[in-house]
Amino acid sequence: MTGHEILLEMQAITKDFPGIRALNEVSFTLEQGQVHGLLGSNGAGKSTLIKVLGGFFSDYSGRILLEGAEADIRTPRQAADAGIAVIHQEFSLHPHLTVAENILLGREPLKKRAGMSFIDWDQLYIQAEDFLRGIGFELPIREKVEKLGVARQQLVQIAKALVQDTRILVMDEPTARLSSHEREDLFAVIQKLKQSGVGIIYISHFLEEVFMIADQITVLRDGEVVTSTSASELDHRSVVNLMVGREVAQTPVDVPEHGGVPILEVQNLTSPKEFQDVSFTLFKGEILGIAGLVGAGRTELARALFGASNGTLEGKIRIDGRDYTPTSPRAAIARGLALLPEDRKDQGLILQHSVADNITLTVLERLVNGPFIDSAARKERVQDLTTMVEVKAASPQVQVNTLSGGNQQKTVLGKWLAVQPEILILDQPTAGIDVGTKAEIYKLMEELVRAGVSLIVISDEPEELARVCQRVLIMRKGRIVNELHKPITSEEVLAGVTAEY
Ligand SMILES: Nc1ncnc2c1ncn2[C@@H]1O[C@H](COP(=O)(O)OP(=O)(O)OP(=O)(O)O)[C@@H](O)[C@H]1O
Ligand SMILES: [Mg+2]
Repeated sequence: MTGHEILLEMQAITKDFPGIRALNEVSFTLEQGQVHGLLGSNGAGKSTLIKVLGGFFSDYSGRILLEGAEADIRTPRQAADAGIAVIHQEFSLHPHLTVAENILLGREPLKKRAGMSFIDWDQLYIQAEDFLRGIGFELPIREKVEKLGVARQQLVQIAKALVQDTRILVMDEPTARLSSHEREDLFAVIQKLKQSGVGIIYISHFLEEVFMIADQITVLRDGEVVTSTSASELDHRSVVNLMVGREVAQTPVDVPEHGGVPILEVQNLTSPKEFQDVSFTLFKGEILGIAGLVGAGRTELARALFGASNGTLEGKIRIDGRDYTPTSPRAAIARGLALLPEDRKDQGLILQHSVADNITLTVLERLVNGPFIDSAARKERVQDLTTMVEVKAASPQVQVNTLSGGNQQKTVLGKWLAVQPEILILDQPTAGIDVGTKAEIYKLMEELVRAGVSLIVISDEPEELARVCQRVLIMRKGRIVNELHKPITSEEVLAGVTAEY
């Protein structure tokens, strides 16, 4: 491929939402065979820019040129016809359909019988299987998508975009839910696409990853381009400064030694299909990490402790020395245990409701449980929390589904902090969160621990666990196989997670 031919030019794109200018005269160029990293803090306008390109809005100003010719892109159909495929931050799969059906939706192979066309199901599964083998993805093609974990749903999403005749591929945080193994598969696919001349716009908050694959980097801040240059001109630090507009500290979380008083004791906990014989103790004022590959059983363990598991549990749990049976999330909350779930869309938020409603949801739950609650003080607390997690929204009354991805995540965090739990389990707390806000969330964890809360942090990012935790448990195939103690390095965590036993 020759390269350097300009595939796409977006010129002076401006897009307003009620009360906010999401993009202000943004210009963006993509070349053939180029991976163009699009970076910026939560709410900077990344998703909005690529939604303009994907034909999701008709009411923007500015021009879009495809290979030099002006293109009027105002509907998803027009974008698709122009060879633009967008993988959105939020999933757009059909949960009740199978993997193969989702991938080939709208392009199902047909067969004729008695002059009529029917979907050729045998052929559909053969085509899907061939296609997936070609791009090196392993997916159960006959499984319903709702049965898959988020990581594999993401792969379906990517496969679905690639099955079209794509010239411009846009990926909005494609790896936020992928294991390191699946990430590598994706990068291999990206290399192949690059060689065949496809232009790729790549949005991610994992800066290391962007530096690994991007040729060009554009940074947005508050809806404007602050820089657009060759990736070799930039490094991690300069990008962070451009994104945030200030220096961001990378210091480890600093909490006092815990006093060795157990708050949560788990003994031989087993959920037959999910995890086996799990035993550990969480101490008061401790931050305990759980590392492992996708599928190691971490999320299942967290959900089981929170009373949100369907499986039958064997084993013993004590909270504060008293026996505890996790029968329901309500019962868990009543015993001072809260869970920030991995999948905010399914379990975390009511998207049609306001930020304020979502944050107070768990508090209302508590009001029902206990009569002696000072509601005025609590309301104030909620206000503090919104400020603390720094949700960027026009007002607390706006619907959650109008927030940027990272700000939705902050709202879920605020919601669970409002419960004022004694034990807070955080499953991938900073997925989709920008580097600046990450530092603030770590600071928030520190404050929580100093205020007497004990934390369990599940994370796919070794750096995060190393930076935040005093102890890290390593889970593999449903079992705890190792335990690391402070000082912990990200290399140790990574080695533990990927080691063969
Ligand atoms: N449908 C909408 N209605 C109202 N405001 C919106 C809508 N979509 C986005 N916004 C606002 O536009 C701004 C830019 O949001 P956008 O989703 O583009 O950010 P982003 O850079 O993708 O952030 P993140 O990294 O958190 O995903 C935000 O202030 C957001 O609240
Ligand atoms: Mg976004």
